[in-house]
Amino acid sequence: MYIILAFVCLFLDQIFTSNANLNDRDQVILGKLLNCKDREYKSENRLRRNFWVLENFIQADHGRMRCSSNVTYTTHADYRYLDNLVPLLERWRSPLSLAMYAPGTDWEPTIESILWLLQCDGGRDLVRGLTSFHIYFEVAHTPKVMLKAETYLARKLDCTRPPPYQVMAWNKTYRSQKDLDYPVNTGRNVAREASLTYFVLASDIELYPTPDLVPRFFNMLGRPTYRSTVKSLVPVVYVLRIFEVESDATVPSNKLELQSMLWSSQAVPFHMNICPHCHKGPKLEEWINASVSDELNVFHKGVRIGRENRWEPIFIGTTNDPPYDERLSWERMSDKMTQAYAMCALGYEFHILDNSFLVHKPGIKLSLDSPERHELALRTESVIRMRFFREMRIIYGSRTGCLP
Ligand SMILES: *[C@@H]1O[C@H](CO)[C@@H](O)[C@H](O)[C@H]1NC(C)=O
Ligand SMILES: *[C@@H]1O[C@H](CO)[C@@H](O)[C@H](O)[C@H]1NC(C)=O
Ligand SMILES: *[C@@H]1O[C@H](CO)[C@@H](O)[C@H](O)[C@H]1NC(C)=O
Repeated sequence: MYIILAFVCLFLDQIFTSNANLNDRDQVILGKLLNCKDREYKSENRLRRNFWVLENFIQADHGRMRCSSNVTYTTHADYRYLDNLVPLLERWRSPLSLAMYAPGTDWEPTIESILWLLQCDGGRDLVRGLTSFHIYFEVAHTPKVMLKAETYLARKLDCTRPPPYQVMAWNKTYRSQKDLDYPVNTGRNVAREASLTYFVLASDIELYPTPDLVPRFFNMLGRPTYRSTVKSLVPVVYVLRIFEVESDATVPSNKLELQSMLWSSQAVPFHMNICPHCHKGPKLEEWINASVSDELNVFHKGVRIGRENRWEPIFIGTTNDPPYDERLSWERMSDKMTQAYAMCALGYEFHILDNSFLVHKPGIKLSLDSPERHELALRTESVIRMRFFREMRIIYGSRTGCLP
């Protein structure tokens, strides 16, 4: 066993250090170390609880991938958020797995929006090359007519007309008319389960990563200090800090730009005004002040315990991390609380990265959307406390300091 490990480490020594892109043989070795399985890349319709899931309804051109070869950005949206896709891909430039919620008559504008991005947008090559689109909806809200993906893809759009996500009014959507909650965690799980790669960045589509994150990440894992974290005894995830910028500001593309924007108050830490303890995490000020380099490193190893137990970090993790709780919806908030509890109980370490981060689509949020949502959020929290955490303790065990 030790001999095999030593052998693997020897090879890992030579991996990525010279080049951030892995060659075929290195990928096989890394795949063995991670113990991940390559997945078939195919379209498949599945029933999941009360949802239909059309996995890989529209596939990316990249085709099959080795599970060890890359990081997949996994996310969820309804079509109104598709304006984020190209700005996100321009920075990410790696595979993206996107679960779209499209109940009832929201199906048509969803498909049309996707086709518009594939055919008409200036970033269409990135969209075609990198994005796997999955679609999901409750069985009770199955669209009346659904054609095959090939039929839709053969359709030629009039690119002089704006895409539905630019013109559609919220009160005209099927979802608002039927007053449906947004099943955020079903979308998160669907997108993550469809990832072809073992490493995933499970995030929200409005959060744009700094460029070159994936090559820098593999370069980091290849260096001796970090190599052991890939397969250490405690599970590790790699946290990206999140910032917001003024609506007329450009999104900073590196830490130096971010620092000057923070110092001139054009940028602030994410949700500073709404829920500071949800995103601050340990050592925020020190992180901001830290000197900058081109290399990616772990700035600090945090745990989600005691004072930090309301932290809802976004991180590069793996397809094996605990699932999101599909009983929680976006309207009810606290949608990551039970996953966070599970990770705490399982002893996860949150390694905060230093020179890469996420920036929200420009515009600083000042308050929660509505008093009703706040009310709902408080009620959900008490349900989680009383019922879900009791379950969670049974499933994952208890650990002092994990409960908020
Ligand atoms: C990840 O996939 C993209 C798209 O196929 C590719 O351009 C990129 O080089 C890959 N990254 C690594 C680290 O191999
Ligand atoms: C929908 O919203 C628009 C503007 O927000 C408003 O003018 C219109 O009257 C609304 N329509 C309905 C049916 O509520
Ligand atoms: C960060 O830098 C600012 C400005 O130079 C300084 O006022 C502050 O004390 C520093 N904070 C920490 C925690 O180092």
